[in-house]
Amino acid sequence: MLLAGLTAASASFAFGNDIPAVNPLAGDPQAAQAGEELFGRNCQQCHNSRGKGGKGPQLVKGAWGPGGANSDGYMYGIIANGRPNTQMGGFGPALKPEEIWQIIAFLREEAKRVKAAEKAKAGAEDDLWF
Ligand code: HEC
Repeated sequence: MLLAGLTAASASFAFGNDIPAVNPLAGDPQAAQAGEELFGRNCQQCHNSRGKGGKGPQLVKGAWGPGGANSDGYMYGIIANGRPNTQMGGFGPALKPEEIWQIIAFLREEAKRVKAAEKAKAGAEDDLWF
């Protein structure tokens, strides 16, 4: 059953230029774990550990945060094609579509952790007043 599911998922990566708006690997913990490793090797030197931002912008808050304006498909396009005339190069040639989705799965999970941590912190600060 699981294998059949995986095969179907990999087959859907083959449909060329038609980028899905939603990550086909969203919420898959194994994909996020693979993405964390890929992020460390390919992106961290500019976007800092866990995408919190450095030389390159942060990728886990605001419009990139949970429910934010930037869709998975939009993120995919930037990672695959890069931003012309910036340090953000295109990873389309270097990474497989599945690997790009794994990185996105990681960043989205990390965004949820960041939001939860901020909420907990805000809660703790509110508590000081009572
Ligand atoms: C050599 C440095 C560098 C590397 C490596 C790099 N980036 Fe970037 N990235 C940048 C910079 C600089 C920008 C901002 C470009 C601009 O001015 O629009 C950017 C922009 C982005 C954006 C758009 C952010 C926004 O808010 O507009 C995304 C998404 C992104 N990078 C993802 C990645 C991912 C994922 C990887 C790894 C596969 C990666 N980047 C690797 C430097 C880098």
